[in-house]
Amino acid sequence: MTTLTPSKPELIDLHPPAADMLRLVRQGLQQEPRQLPAWFLYDAEGSRLFDQICEQPEYSLTRTEIGLLEHSAAEIAAALGAGVIVEFGAGSARKVGTLLNALQPSAYVALDISADHLRQATADLQTRHPSVPMLGICCDHSALTALPEHPLLQGQRRIGFFPGSSLGNFTRPEAVALLRRFRQLLNGGPLLLGLDQPKTPERLEAAYNDAAGVSAAFARNLLHRLNSELGATFDPERFHYDALWQAAEHRVRMALVSQEPQSVSIAGECWQFAAGQPLVTEYSVKYTPAMARDLAAEAGWCWRQRWHDPADDLSLHWLDAAD
Ligand code: AVJ
Repeated sequence: MTTLTPSKPELIDLHPPAADMLRLVRQGLQQEPRQLPAWFLYDAEGSRLFDQICEQPEYSLTRTEIGLLEHSAAEIAAALGAGVIVEFGAGSARKVGTLLNALQPSAYVALDISADHLRQATADLQTRHPSVPMLGICCDHSALTALPEHPLLQGQRRIGFFPGSSLGNFTRPEAVALLRRFRQLLNGGPLLLGLDQPKTPERLEAAYNDAAGVSAAFARNLLHRLNSELGATFDPERFHYDALWQAAEHRVRMALVSQEPQSVSIAGECWQFAAGQPLVTEYSVKYTPAMARDLAAEAGWCWRQRWHDPADDLSLHWLDAAD
C-alpha cells in the first residue's frame, strides 16, 4: 500500500537554553533604555498572537507583502534562480507558498525560534506542497555561524528569504551584522529581503497598537514568558503598552512602561522599575528604498532590484553576493 500523506518534516532543535536567556535578560536590563531581544516575544503563545496581529485591519504589512509576492512571483523566481529556499524567521510560513510554486526549489528549509510553531507550520505547508522536501531548524538565526549539515542542503545553491520586515527589529549595526551573517550562511546565493517603508506616524502607531489590543497582549506575553520560564515575578498589568514613532531613528519603538515604582525579581535578583520607565520589547525600523540599498552595500551585498506594491508601502529587495 502506498501512502499519499507526506511524512512530517524533520526538525533540528537548536533553541538557546534557559541559562542563555537569563544571561541575555540581565544584559538587556543593564542597557539604557532597558531592552530584551525581540526573539523572546516568540514562544508558542507569542507566535499565535503574532499571527493574530497579522490579521488586524491596522496591520497591513502581511497582506500587502503576500499580494506583492503573488503578483510578482514569476519575475522574482526567474531573478533568484534554482536551489534550496532558506527562510529566516518563517513563523507560520504563510508567505513562501507562492515562491514554492513559482520557483520549484530542490527543498525548503525553515528557520524559526519557536519549535512548536515551526513543527506545525512545516507540517501544514508539507500537506499543501507534498513534492517539496522540507526541514525545520529551531534557532536564533542572529547567533548562527553556519547552517547545520543536512542532505537537503548538501551541494545545493542557497536562496535566502527574509520577508516581513523582520530586519526592522535590529538597530543599524545589528542589521549590518545580520546581513553579513546571512551572506555567509547562504554561501554565495542570493537573498530576497522584504522591508516595510516609512508612512505617516498615525498609520504606523495604529499598526503597532491595534484597537483590539492584540499588539499589547503580544508585548505583555513576554513578561508572562519570563515569569514561567525564568521564574520572574512581573505583574504584566502594571505595565502600560506603548508604540511610538521615533522619526529621527526611522522606527517604531514598542515598550512596556512601568505604571508606578515597582520591583521585580528575576531568578532571585531584584530589579527596580521607576514610574514611567520603559522596557523596550522591540523596534520596527522602516527603510526607504535608498536606506535599504545603502544598508545592503554596507553589509557586502550587491543590490539588484526591488519590487513594490502599487501604493509603494513595502519592497521586496533582491540582493546578490557581491563577487
Ligand atoms: C515581525 C518584526 C516584522 O515589526 O512589523 C508587529 C513585529 N510587533 N507588531 C514588525 C511586530 C508588533 C513585526 N516584525
